[in-house]
Amino acid sequence: MDLLKDRIEKDGKVISDQVISVDSFINHMVDPVLMMEIGTEFARRFAAGKVTKVLTVEASGIAVGLTTAMALKVPLLFAKKKKPSTLDHNYYLSNIYSFTKQESVDVYVAKKYLTDNDRVLIVDDFLARGEALKGMTGLVKQAGAVLVGIGIVIEKVFQGGGQALRESGIPIESLVKIHSLEGGKLHLGE
Ligand code: G4P
Ligand code: NA
Ligand code: NA
Repeated sequence: MDLLKDRIEKDGKVISDQVISVDSFINHMVDPVLMMEIGTEFARRFAAGKVTKVLTVEASGIAVGLTTAMALKVPLLFAKKKKPSTLDHNYYLSNIYSFTKQESVDVYVAKKYLTDNDRVLIVDDFLARGEALKGMTGLVKQAGAVLVGIGIVIEKVFQGGGQALRESGIPIESLVKIHSLEGGKLHLGE
């Protein structure tokens, strides 16, 4: 996706050998026109999947989740990082460990919003080691829903999460791949 690639080259800020900031158009301030293009592209790539629901994790996944759900004309469901007091025991829970933050967080989805009738497309802004995605695929599994695939805005290939998930047979589409950030230099792929 050239539009996204060009924007990352123009406005992305390499923070370290591991991390890139895209705060000015994805992660903090959000470019809605770019997000619509991204959502439309995911909808096109997963058009044959008969998706009934888009799933992501709050907070940064919501923008891309909403435009993807809009394009597919299905609901967006986002896993919550704090257990809502209204959920009682009627929720699925997954634990996600973040290497970046060196802490783990439980994420919750109400059982009534994810069932074995669903065909789920998971989306997220980043794929690094894949921990967030493992947590979300766990929620889909608990619900007995079908996982149609995963859509990622920016995959950091060098952190290996994508390879592990692809080896498990899950269809993954990432719109931009980063092959390296070494020495403060951005190396983009397809
Ligand atoms: P993983 O889920 O793929 O294993 O990645 P990791 O634990 O390293 O990522 C933890 C958080 O940091 C996630 O956000 C993830 O989206 C984000 N992240 C990972 N790599 C980068 C990066 O290079 N740049 C930026 N800007 N973010 C990155 P989160 O914990 O879900 O937080 P939130 O942003 O949704 O609040
Ligand atoms: Na995220
Ligand atoms: Na994030």
